[in-house]
This record gives sequence, structure tokens and C-alpha cells, in this order.
Amino acid sequence: MIGKSIKKIAVSTLVALTVSPAVFAADANAQIEDILSQLTLEEKAGQLNLVDFGGEITEERYQLIREGKIGSVLKSNGAAQNLKLQKVALEQSRAGVPILFQEDVIHGYRTIAPVPLAEAASWDLAAIRQSAAVAAREAAAGGVQLTYAPMVDISRDPRWGRILEAAGEDPYLSSLIAAARVKGFQESGSDKQNILATVKHFAGYGDTVAGRDYSISDLSERELQEIHLPPFKAAVDADVAAVMVAYTAHDGIPLTANEYMVQDVLQKQLGFKGLIMTDWETIPNLSETGVTANDEEGVLVAINNDIHMDMQSQKYVELLPQLVRDGKVSIDVVDDAVRKVLRLKQRAGLLDDPLGRFDVDLEKQELLSKENIAATKDIALKSMVLLKNDEQLLPLSLADKKVAVIGPFAKADRDLIGWWPGLGRAEEVTTIWDGLQQEFGPKTDFTHAPGVSIDRFKKVGKELIPQAVKAAEDADVVVMVLGEQFWMSGEGGGTASLHLPGLQEELLAAVAETGKPIVTVIVAGRPYVLTEVAEHSDALLMAWMPGTTGGTAVAEILSGKFNPQGKLPITFPYHQGQVPIFYNHKMTSHVYAPGLTEDRYTTTHRDVQHEPLYPFGYGLSYTNYQYGDIKLSNSKMSMDSTIEASIKVTNTGKVAGHEVVQLYVHDKVASVTQPVKLLKDFSIVDLKPGESKNVTFTLSAEKLSFIGRNYKPTIEAGDFKLFIGASSANVKESAFTLTK
Ligand code: BGC
Repeated sequence: MIGKSIKKIAVSTLVALTVSPAVFAADANAQIEDILSQLTLEEKAGQLNLVDFGGEITEERYQLIREGKIGSVLKSNGAAQNLKLQKVALEQSRAGVPILFQEDVIHGYRTIAPVPLAEAASWDLAAIRQSAAVAAREAAAGGVQLTYAPMVDISRDPRWGRILEAAGEDPYLSSLIAAARVKGFQESGSDKQNILATVKHFAGYGDTVAGRDYSISDLSERELQEIHLPPFKAAVDADVAAVMVAYTAHDGIPLTANEYMVQDVLQKQLGFKGLIMTDWETIPNLSETGVTANDEEGVLVAINNDIHMDMQSQKYVELLPQLVRDGKVSIDVVDDAVRKVLRLKQRAGLLDDPLGRFDVDLEKQELLSKENIAATKDIALKSMVLLKNDEQLLPLSLADKKVAVIGPFAKADRDLIGWWPGLGRAEEVTTIWDGLQQEFGPKTDFTHAPGVSIDRFKKVGKELIPQAVKAAEDADVVVMVLGEQFWMSGEGGGTASLHLPGLQEELLAAVAETGKPIVTVIVAGRPYVLTEVAEHSDALLMAWMPGTTGGTAVAEILSGKFNPQGKLPITFPYHQGQVPIFYNHKMTSHVYAPGLTEDRYTTTHRDVQHEPLYPFGYGLSYTNYQYGDIKLSNSKMSMDSTIEASIKVTNTGKVAGHEVVQLYVHDKVASVTQPVKLLKDFSIVDLKPGESKNVTFTLSAEKLSFIGRNYKPTIEAGDFKLFIGASSANVKESAFTLTK
């Protein structure tokens, strides 16, 4: 029984830790080799098998564990249940190898944080890391050791439902966030508070055409290298434990079977040495898409492509042993895959202490703890983006006022925690309606009218609109809460229309007729086209899907207790026909410039404005910031020197605020077309009313590198524009030269 040798080696591993890393590594390898040497071929295939154990744990499932056919389990069943399963693996299976418990802990386990796209709007890496650490602590206490996050797929198409799972359109911001999340999960707490991370979905899934999930993605090599790979590289550099491959194909070859992507790019170029897993049943999908004739071929292709773990299809466990016996798959390839699995189990602490990670008391203390709720509210506040605030309608003072809270999401709970809510429960969510009552107290007279109902299957009618209009007429201020339901985005949540679902825009237009001041709050996981919504609202707050504490956070922003600081990590289109629209597009000829709309020979549409409604990096505050001129320490920079760019930012308003100061660069002449602007740095500054601070950025030649004609990072001397400002579209400009 391996259980015994695990313990024996565990002691020597502990001793080794105090000796030297080399000895530790040798011992760690010895532990893995020792286990590997005791496994039968069938048990090896079992180690590569990852199966969904959601719902009832039937006798059949216990039997699979006893037979050594389950290496890992997916779905959180809690510490008690996982402990029970683990004991069966250790005590009743022949080999006694512990199970690795895995789950989609995407933005929280039980205390649910805002969706990842929302968190990205905070630009606050410490808060994002903290949010991942909270999720890890809760998940670890619940007996989970590995999450399928962070998802880092860059997408420029809000029609894609999964756009909410990643960090927006910019590769630099996405990379920093990817690393913060990996570290948040893997190394923020004690050993027993951390979980292993899986970066996904490698790669290009976010490019799926027309936002249709699982569809065709066909990127150029350059776009792959420039846009899609950087966040994966950042995750790998942050020592992410595992990688999940995408459902999609790259250059016509599904990722599971794509040797170029998995071996050349992921392993060689990015240097990833850990475990690579399929996405859900992507081995049989190979036959579905017609690149293999049957599942034997699929298994052969996948295992030879270093896909080490099979999620859910059970094809490895069913077919691999025979393929090895027939001489079609080398046992060395299987052994290598098993080593990767055992290494994960070792990293998760399961080989040293297989039962020590399932503590029901700790689980009780940890889930929804005060500290976790507080951290979650912190990121919820920081993630909301104020898009419009005419006449300083916000913050609201509502004492002795009548407020009509209108819209189908005013009392929403489940919708606030999104498509991947972990074990989060609707009844644990503070709704916006409840948050407002708590924040403003009994001196404010709140009434509610849903205005319209949103239901995919029921006919949506206009009959509730008059009642909402009446409520608005009777009120001093209207808070409209509009958005989308949780199932409308997330996996499989593609949408063709980017207008708010149902009759919400009609509702808002009818309420606006009353002439009452309107604050609109949007609950959604994607950039909707908010052009008409903004027109009919005096103030507009993007609350995203803000999580368990979402209602409190919205209320604290509306009351002014918290001054909004979020900045959009993704462009909000003016019209849905503009999609894909993103700030860092390449230079072209026939460049559109404002005022040239009469000239048809430009890169713009004839029928709508050229600009998006809200650009990347945009977000207002309850105060105003004035930017001075950019000062450069030198207008020339050599390949091995740096220059400093500084700017004076002044808070000219009446309240304290946090401003995300952004630095962009444009390379004027290069051997490959360059983006009109590319984010290179940012800094969050705290400013009291009237206070000024100099914000200084250091630029090095390395920051100016781009993917050259040879597809490798290249630095070319020449002239650059440098921009610093409050968004990608509101900047001060300067220039410098990079000399040879
Ligand atoms: C998704 C993954 C997810 C997996 C397991 C798949 O359908 O694409 O992102 O981790 O299911 O739930």
C-alpha cells in the first residue's frame, strides 16, 4: 500500500526542507518515483482520470475509487464528503493514492466576489490578489485543492458570454492580473489555505467568431503572440500549477491535438513544465470535430501531445491500457503524465498529509467569515465604474426624499453572483434594494416597481411599465436597476444583440419622460451597448455582477461613502455593429480623424460615430482630476538606459479620491504595424481635495519591445509618442527617441 510509503517519505521530505533545495527536489522526485513504481498500468491510467462527482455520490462512484480508476474529482462536495471519498481512496483502493479535489473556483467559493471582468476594472492588483486569496482560503477549507482559474482569454467581442471570466482587452493589464490571481490562489496564505491554480483556456478561445461559444478561432501567429499569449506567460512565470487547453482549434487544429501550441508554444516558448489537462471531454470532441476517426485515435493523439489529464470523458482510463499493451502508446509517455499528476498532489500537500486538508470545523469558520465578506466588499466597491454623472447627481442625499427603485434587477440576488457562483447562494446575497435601505435608513421613503419582467420563456409584456412610471412620478429621484440575468452570460451565454435584454430600454425611456432625475445601475457581465441608456440617465454606474456584497457596495457608492475609482478594462461600444472595437488597434492607412466624417475614404462606419461610447481606461469619480504636462527626464533613451516620465495630478474637487493614472506608448515607425496606443504602465494615486502629486513612471527599452517580423520580441530604435492620462482617450502627449 502506497499510503504507508507516502508517510515514510513525507518525514524525509520535511527533513530535506531544512537541508537544501537540491536535496529536497531529489527527495520530492523520489517520493513520486516510489509511488509510480508501485502502480499497475490500469492504476496509472486511473491517475490521469478526472471525473465530475457533482450530485449524489453513488455506490458506483465509490467502486471506481476502490478500483483505482479515479485520480481526481471535480465539484465541491464539502470537506466532510471529500474526506469520506479520500478515506476510500487511501484505505480501500489497492494503491492508496490520494484523490486531488478540483473545482471551478472562479470568483469565490462561498463568499462570491465580483466577476473577474469587474475585478479587472479595479486595476488594483493587491485587491485582486486578496480576492483570489479569499476564494482559496474558503475552497481549501472546503476540501478543494485545485481551481480552474484564472481564465485569461482575451476577447474583444462582448457577444461572447465568457468575456466576464477574464480581465478585458489589454494584454498588459491582463498579464498583471493573471499573475496576481495565480499568486492569490497559490501563495497568499498558509499551506492549508492555498490552492493550486489552472490557467485556461490555452489559447485563443476568446477569439471565437461572432461571440459564439466553442466556435472557430483562427488567429494570426502575430495576434496570438501579441495579444493572447502574454497573460499565459505571466501565469506560467508566476508558477501556475496547471494549464487547461481550450475547446477551440488554433489554425484548424483543436488545442487538445495541437502539437505546435502545446509543445512548441506552451512548453518550449513559455517554459511550462506542469500538468496540462483537457477541457470537458475535449478528447472525444476530436472525433466530433472530425480530426480523429474514433476515441482510440483521440486518446493516442492527446497523450502523445502531452495532455496529461482527461476531464470527464474517461477515455484515458478506458482506452489507454490497451493502447499501451498493443504497443501504440509508449509506457514512458503514460509514466510522464502520471508524474505530472503526482507532482500536483505533492504540491497540494496530499502526499505528505492526505487526510489533513478536510477539516469540517475550519470549513465552518472560514466560509462567509467576516474577514472574507469585508475583502469581497472592498473589491466590489473598487470594481464599479461611474460612467456618467451629469450635474453631480451622485452622490445622493436622500434624507426625507422619496426614491423609486425601478427595474427587474432591483431585488435580484442570484443574478448578482453570475454564472460561476461556486457554492454561493442567492439567499446570502445583499440585493441592491436591501443595500439601499440599509445605507440610507428609515428617513428615506423607498418604493419598488419592477417595470418589466425578464424571462426567456414567458412572453415579455409592457403591462408593468405604467406602474413604474407612476412610481417615478411620485418620487424625487429614480434609481433604475437594469441588466442581464446570470444565465445570459458565462459559458454558452453568447448573445447576438448587445442591447439590454427584453423591454428594459423602453422602460427606461418611459420613466425618463417623467423628467425625474435618474440614476441607472447596470448589473451585467459584459459591455452592453448603453448609448440609449446613457441618454436617458443622468447618472450611470456599471456595477457588473458584483457578488455577495454587491447591493451594499452599490448603495455605499450611491451614498458617497465610497468614491468610485474603477476604470473600464474593456471598450464599451457605441453601436453593436462596431464590434470588435478596442483601443489598441493597429495603425492603418486612411486613418479616421474627427471632423473627417464627410470624407468617405477612412476606416470608419458611415452611419454611426467612430468612437466607442466609453473607451478603455475610462471611469469617473465624485471628484475631478487635473493633469499637468508630461515631463521627461530625457528626450532620448538608449537601449540600456531608462527615462522617467512624470506628470502632476491634482484633485480639484471636494472629496478625496483614487485615480488610476495610465501610461500609453505609440511606436511611430517599426517593421511591423503598431497599435495607435498601448498601455505600458499605470499607477493608482490617492489624492485629498486640493492635493497634487507627481506620478513618475520609468520606461526602459524592454518595455518598448514588440513581436518582430521573426515573431520574436524585438526592440527597434526610433521615435515614440508617450501619453499619460485618465483613460486611453483622454491623455497628455509627449515624445522621445530610442537611440541605437
Ligand atoms: C469549461 C471550463 C471549466 C470546465 C469544468 C468547461 O465546460 O470550459 O472552463 O473549467 O467546464 O467545469
